[in-house]
Amino acid sequence: MRRRRFLSRCALLGGAATLGPLAGLPAAWAEQTPRLFARTRLTDVHGRPLRAADLAPETNYVFQYPFAATPCLLLKLARPVTVPAGTRRADGDAPAWQGGVGRDRNVVAFSAICAHKLAYPTREVSFIRYQPEKSATSAARVIHCCADHSVYDPADGARVLSGPAPQPLAGILLEHDAADDGLYALGTVGPDQFAAFFDKYRVRLSLEYGESRARSAVAATSIVRELSSYCRTTIQC
Ligand code: FES
Repeated sequence: MRRRRFLSRCALLGGAATLGPLAGLPAAWAEQTPRLFARTRLTDVHGRPLRAADLAPETNYVFQYPFAATPCLLLKLARPVTVPAGTRRADGDAPAWQGGVGRDRNVVAFSAICAHKLAYPTREVSFIRYQPEKSATSAARVIHCCADHSVYDPADGARVLSGPAPQPLAGILLEHDAADDGLYALGTVGPDQFAAFFDKYRVRLSLEYGESRARSAVAATSIVRELSSYCRTTIQC
C-alpha cells in the first residue's frame, strides 16, 4: 500500500507519459520517463537501516543500485535541493524527481558512472567523486570526474557544468521515510549508462562478480559505505 501511495504521489504510473520541461533541471531529464526498479532500503555496513541523520554532510558515500555492479553516489549537500513550487509534468502530474529528500531536503543520489567514458568507483580507484572544496581545476561543491574533467552540479540534477560529458549523470529516485528517517532507492531518472557500462566492462565485471551476478538486480537492501573505505585510492584533481 505504502509503495502504491508513493508511486501515486510521484506520478510514476503514467506508463508512456513523458515528463514536461522542468525549470532548473536538465532538459534531458525532462524528456525522460523514470525507470522503476526495486524499492531498496539503504543500510549501513552492519545491515542496519541507514538514517539520513547518519550521513555526514558533503561526504562521498557509495551504494550499488539498481544492479549489483552499478555504483551510485549518495550525498548530503550543504543546502536543500528543491524543485520550484508548482512544477508539473506535461501531463499535469508532479515530476518524478523531487529534489533532495530528508528533513533538510538535501540528500541526493546519482549514478557514479561518468557520462563521458564511463569511469566509475572500483575497489582500487575512483576518478569520480563529490568535491566540497574549490580545486585548481573546478569550483567547489561539484561532482568532478578527474579522468577527463567532466564536472557536474549535484544541486541541479547533476547537469554538466564543464568538460566532455555529453549529458548529466543519471539520477537515483530516493524516498525518505519520515517515521524512522530511513532512505530507499526506487529507480532512476534521466539517461543512464548501464548497457554501455556492462558492455565496456564485461570481462572485468565477470571476474569481479561472476558471469551473471554483476547484472543481477539489487533487491531489498543495499549497503552504503563511505567512498574512502569502499575504494583504496580516490583521485584528486
Ligand atoms: S570518464 Fe569521466 S570525464 Fe572522461
